[in-house]
Amino acid sequence: MLVFVVMALMVCSVSDSSRLLNDPESQHRRNLLGNGLGATPPMGWNSWNHFHFGINETMIQETADALVSTGLSKLGYTYANIDDGWGEMTRDDNGNLVPHRTKFPSGIKALADYVHGKGLKLGIYSDAGYFTCGTKMAGSLGHEEQDAKTFASWGVDYLKYDNCHNDGTKPVDRYPVMTRALMKAGRPIYFSLCEGGDMHPALWGYQVGNSWRTTDDIRDRWESMISKADINEVYANYARPGGWNDPDMLEVGNGGMTKNEYVVHFSLWAISKAPLIIGCDVRNMTEDTKEILSNAEVIAVNQDPLGIQGKKVRNGNLEVWAGPLSGYSVAVVLLNKYSYRRAPVTALWEDIGLDPSTVVQARDLWEHKTLERQFVGSLTATLEPHSCKMYVLKPVA
Ligand SMILES: *[C@@H]1O[C@H](CO)[C@@H](O)[C@H](O)[C@H]1NC(C)=O
Ligand SMILES: *[C@@H]1O[C@H](CO)[C@@H](O)[C@H](O)[C@H]1NC(C)=O
Repeated sequence: MLVFVVMALMVCSVSDSSRLLNDPESQHRRNLLGNGLGATPPMGWNSWNHFHFGINETMIQETADALVSTGLSKLGYTYANIDDGWGEMTRDDNGNLVPHRTKFPSGIKALADYVHGKGLKLGIYSDAGYFTCGTKMAGSLGHEEQDAKTFASWGVDYLKYDNCHNDGTKPVDRYPVMTRALMKAGRPIYFSLCEGGDMHPALWGYQVGNSWRTTDDIRDRWESMISKADINEVYANYARPGGWNDPDMLEVGNGGMTKNEYVVHFSLWAISKAPLIIGCDVRNMTEDTKEILSNAEVIAVNQDPLGIQGKKVRNGNLEVWAGPLSGYSVAVVLLNKYSYRRAPVTALWEDIGLDPSTVVQARDLWEHKTLERQFVGSLTATLEPHSCKMYVLKPVA
């Protein structure tokens, strides 16, 4: 009798899942974009956080050179992304977007060729409204197909799509128009939704783009950085390969935080499976900046193929963040948010998803060493103000 029940359940679940797989409507919903990009969070550089409008083709070329010569591209930072300010204010007589005549005199196609020649990819910026946010150059609302074709013809690989000066309709109506336009344009283009978090894009972004901003713009300050990480964390369950929560680009190296604070910034972005888009001048990095951005062990947590966003499992001024990795390992960040006192922070196995009896080896990702003793049940570290420790815990067989 029991056997029959179990078999009936099995039959039921098999036919359920095959119905789902064959249902064209759900297939369509899953694969609307279907560009195969973003299997892990994107890595690269963007001009906005450091340069704002002060961009031109020379400095983008020099940035591409620096991404290669510093070794950053080998670590995975392959997108060189131009933000707002690359174009003329108005379209040409045929309605096409026009690269800025003095800042980008050779045009975007020539720049894409240059960047591709370095083994990198080129990103560009537009807006799901009539004008862009900063320079108020022409946006793409109502010109989606034309602009997607233009970007594809230039060899663009990534589109950051902002949300200013729109007609007041819902982003969930405007963004998919560009999704479909990119699909038709004949070139895989990573689609980065910069809706700003107003309409909870985590709830609908996966069907529309490869990542979605969960917050407004980051500033190069501890409080801003922490608040973006916190807002982004709320949506952790919605992130997965092909679609990521985006708490905005990195400020590491821009000078507004201490080294320890930038280590916290990079650690939280990595465990949150956030896009790692550098926002400083990579042509002129300090050794500290380079060391933080080049931490291959922290990058490996971000790029883990399982693609599960870490969560905050202990709240307050002494926090614990954790998330599973492939190979039964767990990534952990212990964080002291106090500005004025040292304090011990403890990760309890029951909080971070390990059985209490599990014995682990702990790898300290910032010290680059495996701790000599093994741990069972908990791990404690004493932390300086505004600083963190990041570990990978690996169960010992
Ligand atoms: C290009 O931009 C950089 C960085 O803002 C600036 O230093 C340089 O003077 C600019 N060059 C031109 C030709 O505008
Ligand atoms: C390079 O960075 C330092 C700060 O680290 C700054 O003082 C200097 O002006 C920068 N140089 C250029 C050319 O931007």
